[in-house]
Amino acid sequence: MATWSNFNLQNGASPLMEQIIFFHDHTLIILIMITILVSYLMINLLFNKYINRPLLEGQMIELIWTILPAITLIFIALPSLRLLYLLDELNNPLITLKSIGHQWYWSYEYSDFHNIEFDSYMIPSNELNSNNFRLLDVDNRIILPMNNQIRIMITATDVIHSWTIPSLGVKVDANPGRLNQTNFFINRPGIYYGQCSEICGANHSFMPIVIESISIKNFINWINNYS
Ligand code: CUA
Repeated sequence: MATWSNFNLQNGASPLMEQIIFFHDHTLIILIMITILVSYLMINLLFNKYINRPLLEGQMIELIWTILPAITLIFIALPSLRLLYLLDELNNPLITLKSIGHQWYWSYEYSDFHNIEFDSYMIPSNELNSNNFRLLDVDNRIILPMNNQIRIMITATDVIHSWTIPSLGVKVDANPGRLNQTNFFINRPGIYYGQCSEICGANHSFMPIVIESISIKNFINWINNYS
């Protein structure tokens, strides 16, 4: 969960989020190097007194400053494509969770089991307990086992929503009439918060997502005792 004055990405709780953070840092370093170089050149340009009256063309320097940025872009594009295909790869999921966006709450279905399904509403500010987070906690959490590949099917019933969990590196739009798929692997127990991130209407800010990650043993227990 993002805490006060956190300007960075949230800690990764899945291998994919880890890769996203690595790519972010890699790209940011290239960006900083370019910014420093360009700033240096522009400041120099303002203050130098040299003039060169017969300078009309410079084929060699133009060739260099065209090819160098192109090579720089390849260093960003190749890791980016690798990450893109890595995020899309589905590797024998253990369970499938279906999440459906509504105005304005999420509902979840565990179709692998006795068709467990429930709605997940945000807890209103006046009903919060002292251990709840305002605008972030829900009445019914998603329960998922850690250290297992999990597939999520995402759709909506009315308008476009977006199922987003920053610490797991998941952000998939929920479109009416369309079934989207993604996957993740939670590598530790804990509670992971997310919010709808597609402007879906008046209560867009009030449809958070909460995942409770537990051990597979406790998960089976939860499934068995679900009434
Ligand atoms: Cu649902 Cu924004």
